[in-house]
Amino acid sequence: MLRDGVTVEIASDLDQVQVLGLYRAVGWIAYTEQPDVLQAALAGSSRIVVAREGGALIGLARVISDGASIAYLQDVLVHPRHQRRGLGAALVRSALEPYAEVRQKVLLTDDQPAQQAFYEHLGYQEISKTASGSLRAFVRFDR
Ligand SMILES: CC(C)(COP(=O)(O)OP(=O)(O)OC[C@H]1O[C@@H](n2cnc3c(N)ncnc32)[C@H](O)[C@@H]1OP(=O)(O)O)[C@@H](O)C(=O)NCCC(=O)NCCS
Repeated sequence: MLRDGVTVEIASDLDQVQVLGLYRAVGWIAYTEQPDVLQAALAGSSRIVVAREGGALIGLARVISDGASIAYLQDVLVHPRHQRRGLGAALVRSALEPYAEVRQKVLLTDDQPAQQAFYEHLGYQEISKTASGSLRAFVRFDR
């Protein structure tokens, strides 16, 4: 139990309607316009944790990992009505719990101050600011 009846737990039996509602609430239409892709993405994730209040789904985070060398944090979302109460951070910590020994933790996110503050709060650094300064990140979008 996190606070006031809010729980963070490993996802089981995710209700697709609730999931779509949560993704819609944060405006992630790239997912909600392709529910089959979202369903497959969730099914293929290494670990998904959810936040619930009563029966309602109010947050979700998921990780894709080989369990040894890399843990990729793919989605973190908290329903707008529940933001800025520590839930996003609790979801990320719980999602990454089994990967404490995995050195390389990476993610892509929007270029917005809120996301920057959130991930810096969690110990992530922009790649250009890493200690060695000799890393480069590449991405390719095929659609
Ligand atoms: C990003 C997101 C997951 C953060 O969830 P949250 O529950 O509001 O975050 P937390 O309350 O755990 O915030 C932890 C810390 O991150 C920082 N932070 C989070 N949101 C912030 C914001 N909007 N502005 C500035 N700092 C912010 C703060 O340092 C905060 O600590 P504080 O409240 O004690 O100051 C949430 O805003 C969200 O779902 N956004 C839409 C989806 C998204 O962009 N996801 C991330 C990209 S994958």
